[in-house]
Amino acid sequence: MTTSTDRILNFSAGPAIMPEPVLERIREDTWNIDDSGIGILEHSHRGPVVDRVFEETEQRVRTLAGLGDDHEVLFIQGGASMQFAMIPMNFLPADGVADYPDTGTWTTKAIKEAKLFGGVNVAFEGAASRYDHCPRADELSLSDDAAYLHYCSNNTIYGTRYMLPPQTTAPLVCDASSEMFSRPWPFADHAMVYAGAQKNLGPSGVALVIVRRDFLERTCRDAASMLDYRKHAKNGSRLNTPPVFGVYCIGLVLEWILESGGLPAMADRNQRKANRIYEAIDGSGGFYRGHATIPCRSTMNITFRLPTEDLEAAFLKEAADAGMSGLKGHRSVGGIRASIYNAFPAAGCDTLAAFMKDFARLKG
Ligand SMILES: Cc1ncc(COP(=O)(O)O)c(C=O)c1O
Repeated sequence: MTTSTDRILNFSAGPAIMPEPVLERIREDTWNIDDSGIGILEHSHRGPVVDRVFEETEQRVRTLAGLGDDHEVLFIQGGASMQFAMIPMNFLPADGVADYPDTGTWTTKAIKEAKLFGGVNVAFEGAASRYDHCPRADELSLSDDAAYLHYCSNNTIYGTRYMLPPQTTAPLVCDASSEMFSRPWPFADHAMVYAGAQKNLGPSGVALVIVRRDFLERTCRDAASMLDYRKHAKNGSRLNTPPVFGVYCIGLVLEWILESGGLPAMADRNQRKANRIYEAIDGSGGFYRGHATIPCRSTMNITFRLPTEDLEAAFLKEAADAGMSGLKGHRSVGGIRASIYNAFPAAGCDTLAAFMKDFARLKG
């Protein structure tokens, strides 16, 4: 049997760390859930246990996101990348245009998919500044009659985030994969918010999708059933055999967030955790160089470089020896990335910050 003492600090960008009480509960429910004598992996998706799991999970999403009846809550397979295609397939007419500020790899991929279905206005070209920030209002060039504006609220690879959603009169569509439910966000003002689960919500393979009912009515073409939001909504996310285990895990993670004080408490804790690492960067006399501009610093993914690649390799090796894994930056940015999602412990951020200070003192 494993215990928290034999687990190491997991800074992975995703799949990522899960709350330990949730892992303990999953272990029990995999054997026998709700005293049914059957584990969660073995229950029919049409039976009462899975009914309860889906209803409770949906209700927790509604509570955390502050949603009323005008939004649907869906669970769809295929991760966030499937959403890159489903969104334009459903909502971008062939002769229409959608605004897509490009803040890095994931929005670049979303743009590529959207171009298969209609016109795309790249409303901000982040590549020009190496994706070191999210656009200010005066950097956005919006089209007059956009079907929607798609943005990514937290850019996992670069460690940047929007402080507020972009301002537009077009329906807002947000990829919140790497920060879902890490801070209060005006979810109900969005036509759609989606998130692949494997960072802040649960295991990979399922996306949480929040979509406003009046936006669903703007569906512009008939898609194959599994790619049609209206059909998922009509069938309570059980159009076929759904990703039951993923939805069940999301439900437990959301219960843990609610019991931990909800989104304001998460945001406060996440900011304090991130500050410890940013202080180690800013206090290093230039030894560590943060990638994101200060106003756009993410609290979920913290990215920085060292003076040389050799020092970065030594940093990763010594960090691994000290029980810290998953710190290698994405290949497109290089350097170091510490992903410290909701479930990541504050003490782990202290450990990394202390390690960074020692490393800079010895090698700087
Ligand atoms: C912001 C963002 N969007 C989309 C994705 C793609 O997610 P998935 O692998 O679930 O398709 C990722 C994955 O890291 C991501 O960080």
